[in-house]
Parts: sequence; C-alpha cells; structure tokens
Amino acid sequence: MTDTHLPGGPGPGGDTPGGSSPRSIILDCDPGHDDAFAIMLAHGSPGIDLKAITTVAGNQTLEKVTRNARAVATICGITGVPIAAGAAAPLVRPLRVAADIHGASGMDGPVLPAPTVPLDPRHGVDVIIETVRSQPAGSITLVPTGPLTNIALAARLAPDIVGRVREVVLMGGGYGGGNVTAAAEFNILADPEAAHIVFGSPWPVTMVGLDVTHQALATPDIASRIADLGTAPAAFAVDLLEFFGRMYSATQGFAAPPVHDPCAVALVADPAVVTLRPAHVEIERTGTHTTGMTVTDFAGRGAVALDHRVGVGLNRDLFWDMMIAAIAAISAC
Ligand code: BDR
Ligand code: CA
Repeated sequence: MTDTHLPGGPGPGGDTPGGSSPRSIILDCDPGHDDAFAIMLAHGSPGIDLKAITTVAGNQTLEKVTRNARAVATICGITGVPIAAGAAAPLVRPLRVAADIHGASGMDGPVLPAPTVPLDPRHGVDVIIETVRSQPAGSITLVPTGPLTNIALAARLAPDIVGRVREVVLMGGGYGGGNVTAAAEFNILADPEAAHIVFGSPWPVTMVGLDVTHQALATPDIASRIADLGTAPAAFAVDLLEFFGRMYSATQGFAAPPVHDPCAVALVADPAVVTLRPAHVEIERTGTHTTGMTVTDFAGRGAVALDHRVGVGLNRDLFWDMMIAAIAAISAC
C-alpha cells in the first residue's frame, strides 16, 4: 500500500494553510513538557481555533498537570479559553505517572509562574461534551495528548457527541514498539481500557504515535532558533527542552528529546506535516508482556476494516517551522 497524505477527516471546515478556516479543537492533555508545546502550537498556529483545554492525570497527578496547564496559559497569554480538570485516575487501573521524564512537578525545569488564568469549575469531561454539543456538528476535532480517560468517559456519558465530533487525532501508541515497555507507549499503557473505547467508537480516529513523534527531535539548532526569538514564551520553551532533553538522554539514550504532543496538533493544522496510512488498530488489554500495545494492521488481515488512520512519517522541517512560528506569534501578543 502506498503511503499518502490523506485529507483531513470528514465534516465541514477547510484545512489551513491555504486560506480557509482554522480547525476547531479541544486539547485534552497532561502537561508535561511536550504537552506545553502542544498548547503553544494550538494557541499560536493560524490553522487552529482552540476551544478548550481539558486535563487528565497522566504525566503527573491531576492537580499538578492542571496547575501546569494554567501556568502555560499564563506564560502564553491564553485567555478566554476554558481550562478544566478532568479524570484523576484511569478507568480501571491505578494511576501511573511519568516522573522519570517530566519530574516531580510534571513540568520540572522552568520556573513556573503562579497561574493567573482561572480554572473552569466544570469537570473536564462536561466541558468536552458541552463544547461538542454547542458547536456545529462535524466541526470539533478532539486532540488528546495524554491517557484517553476523559475522551472515553465523554463517549460513554454522551454517546450523542460521537457522531458530532469531526475526528479524534491523538498522540499515543505506535506500530514499531513502545517507550515504557517493549510493546507499549505511555499514553496507551496508562489507560488501555479507555484507549479501547476510543479506538472502538464510530468516530474517525487518527493515531500519531512514536513512529512519527520520534522524528520530532528538538536538536540544538532548533533550541537555538527558539532562543533567538528572545521572548518570555521562547525562554520558557528553551527551559522545557533543556530539562526534557536531559531526562530523555538519561532514561532512553536520546541525543535530543522527541517532542511528541504537538505533532498531533500540527497534523490538524496542516495535513502535509504527517504522512498517514489506513489501518486497523486494536488495543492489547490482557497481554502478559504486551498490555497497552497498539496492534496495527495495515493489511486488513482477517477482513478487518481499515477504519483508522496511522501516522507513518513526519515532515520535520515543516513541523518545526510551524512550531517556531507559533511561539513567535504568541510572543507578539
Ligand atoms: C507521551 O507520554 C507523555 O510522557 C508525553 O507527554 C507524551 O504525551 C509520549 O509517550
Ligand atoms: Ca502528554
């Protein structure tokens, strides 16, 4: 099968760039260093209209990642976008955090300001449901960059939203192996039951996994380009990369850190960033050594429908150009 840049998911709305309307998204995240980059790209990209930020326990506890999300919003001047806390634990399993990568705070490295942007009092899952219901059918794209707990809960609590969502474009999984175990990536391993619900629901699902995001390395030239912007958001981004890079070097031997989460946002903003292939993905939930694996079938073996889309390549130059332009745009606000 030929690799292809598949078009965006079904529903109205154009794909920028090219002059058409930006894509409306809800960013469901667990900040997290790379989640912070996802927030910055969602806020600063002309291809994205950020409708809400919801948080989920993952990289750290819900309290910590929610505080981090509000701190990022404060640094970046994000106002008027609801930020709401969602699920504090996975559907079935105990909470698993990633302090080895993100530190005790979930965003170690930079000095974080006391958040000045308010916390929306609603539950994050209610914000997802209410936002999807209040916007035109087929207009909202869900972009989860943490465990899929909130998204699964929303689908189960309000099945009517499943048909209203344009698509789910998630950072998680991978077909070439994991990063916590040999088989499993963190976001999927943290809540495989939720992932099973999300991949099994009748909305379009695109998986932007490690096969893509391990190409989004923040090499020293990238950090220099960001530093050269000379602004507070840029300095924050550089501080994030410094800590993230040290952790990835120490724990996984990376020469530069893979900045996973904004890859999913970038794909929504511009389909040219990620090469996609049709596939069917099943979530391993009972494996002795493979729990959390995203079992990816590109060939339709057993006559399964190729009903998902899976990222297989990244246009790295375009990705970093978009990311750096977004940080520059935020800085100008
Ligand atoms: C994913 O796990 C988290 O630690 C990152 O924020 C990213 O979402 C990568 O496996
Ligand atoms: Ca994340």
